[in-house]
Amino acid sequence: MPTGVRRTAIATLVTSVVALVATSIALAGNAGFGPPPAHSPNAHRIVQSYIFVSIFTGAIFVIVEGALIAFIIKYRRGKRPRNADGAQIHGATRLEIIWTVVPVLILAAIASFVFYKLPGIANAPKAAAADQTTITVEGHQFYWRFVYPNGATSFTTMVAPANQVVNERIVGLDWDVNHSWWVPELGGKFDAIPGKVNKTWFQAPPGNYLARCAELCGIQHAFMYGHVHVVPRAQYDAFMAKRLTPADTYALGQEMWQGVCLACHRLSEKYIGPALGGNPLLADEHALETLLRQGQGKMPAVGKNWTSHEMNALVDYTKQFAKKG
Ligand code: CUA
Repeated sequence: MPTGVRRTAIATLVTSVVALVATSIALAGNAGFGPPPAHSPNAHRIVQSYIFVSIFTGAIFVIVEGALIAFIIKYRRGKRPRNADGAQIHGATRLEIIWTVVPVLILAAIASFVFYKLPGIANAPKAAAADQTTITVEGHQFYWRFVYPNGATSFTTMVAPANQVVNERIVGLDWDVNHSWWVPELGGKFDAIPGKVNKTWFQAPPGNYLARCAELCGIQHAFMYGHVHVVPRAQYDAFMAKRLTPADTYALGQEMWQGVCLACHRLSEKYIGPALGGNPLLADEHALETLLRQGQGKMPAVGKNWTSHEMNALVDYTKQFAKKG
């Protein structure tokens, strides 16, 4: 074997061994190779489809790579001259029929399985009105706003009732860009497109589920996270009711500050936008509202559709940062 070829062969072998070891370690902890554990019937069906497809793709991978390695060893040049031709073969009808029919059968099996699972992914189970709720999910640059049936709202964290059907209306705002609402443990991705309503649902046990924006939507897209906080129904009802009362104003303002303002600003240093600490605007309700509703320069109109209750709540919270020092 010439030195160059040997060096390449050794390098390839070492790389492959390292890759295989790394992969087995990564697989042991899932490491993002597979979907996270499902906590909603539709997410379960997505995971089942993923596993079903993986069985075929995994088998094909092993067969193809195994044959490749076996052929490399079995048909290596050995002592034959470098320019010796192999045997010339033309046509192999039986083989050609097999490699046409088998993939067709595999694709048919995958399609049948997915179409069988699909209705249970797309359609929520039938539930009495008392056992379900509808929450609107709004995608904004760069935060999520949730609107509840009683008009209450929350930012970044959705509160939802446990073990009941939660219908989600995912909407985009006319003045904003496309986002995509994705809670991997509770189902698939749904785009928030201006002017369109997309619908999905989940039914989950109590827990805290990570959401993220899955559509490149601007400079802070990578940080556009959210959470779905699933709690017992009574706690959900209490949250919604309290949200509209003055007792919750400060908490709402703090949530808005952390979820919306801090996405692009910091108090004491320039981040995406200028530092906010000591800015008198933070205590000037009228001026702040104008800025939030209309945007300015590179700052989008982040609060264009906020209620006056929300505007009050934010100023109530931010006024503490308006004075220097
Ligand atoms: Cu919103 Cu990416």
